Amino acid sequence: MPQQPVRIAPSILSSDFSILGEEVRRIDEGGADYIHIDVMDGHFVPNLTFGAPVVKCLRPHTKKIFDVHLMIAPVDPLIEDFAKAGSDIITAHVEAGPHLHRTLQAIKSHGVKAGVSLNPHTPIESIQHVMDMVDLILIMTVNPGFGGQSFIPLLDKIAKARAMIDATGREIDLEVDGGVNPDTAKQVIEAGADVLVAGTAVFKDGPEQYAANIKALRG
Ligand code: DX5
Ligand code: ZN
Repeated sequence: MPQQPVRIAPSILSSDFSILGEEVRRIDEGGADYIHIDVMDGHFVPNLTFGAPVVKCLRPHTKKIFDVHLMIAPVDPLIEDFAKAGSDIITAHVEAGPHLHRTLQAIKSHGVKAGVSLNPHTPIESIQHVMDMVDLILIMTVNPGFGGQSFIPLLDKIAKARAMIDATGREIDLEVDGGVNPDTAKQVIEAGADVLVAGTAVFKDGPEQYAANIKALRG
C-alpha cells in the first residue's frame, strides 16, 4: 500500500515518569495518534525503563494505540505479558534473537499487530522474508537506548523500506524513531515514512506546548 497519512507517536521515554498516566492523557489530548512505549532491559540496550505492569497501569488512561517498542533480549518469553497488558502493536528487534520468524508468529498468536525494528547498521534486506507477517516496520535513526540523540540520516534505507512495503500491496506502517524533530520529520516523510516517533521534540517546553509540538511534526 502507498504511504498512509502521517501519524505521530510521542515516546513517553521523555515524559515525567512520576506522573506517567497524566502525561499519557496530556499527549492524547494534544493529538497523539499512537502512544510509543520504549521498553528497555539494560542488556539489549544500555538503559532500563519499564515492564508490562506499567503498560497495564497506563491502559485505562487512553484509548489511543499502544505502540510497544521492545528493546529486550530474549524477547519471546515476555511477549504474552505485553500482549495481555493491553499493547496494540508489539515491535521486536531483528537483532534481539536468532528466530525473528518465530518471534513474529508469537506476537501474532496473541491477536496484536506485529512490528519489526532495525538498528541503524542492519540492512533492510534482512526483513525481506518476513514482509508477509509484519504490520509495522520501525527504522531506528539513532542507536537505541536513550532519548535526545542526533538523527542518523538513513533516508535511503527508509526509501527502500517504502518500496518493499508498496510491493506487498499490504497496509504496513513505516515508522521512524530517533532524533525526529520538525526538520528531520520533513525528510523522513519525503523518504516514505508515515509514523513518526518523537520524545524530546514532543515533551519539550512543558505540557502547554505538547499539542503545538505534535502539530509541528506533521509536516
Ligand atoms: C530510543 C527510543 C526512542 C526515543 C526517541 O532508544 O526507541 O523512542 O525515545 O527519543 P528522541 O525523540 O528524543 O530521539
Ligand atoms: Zn522507540
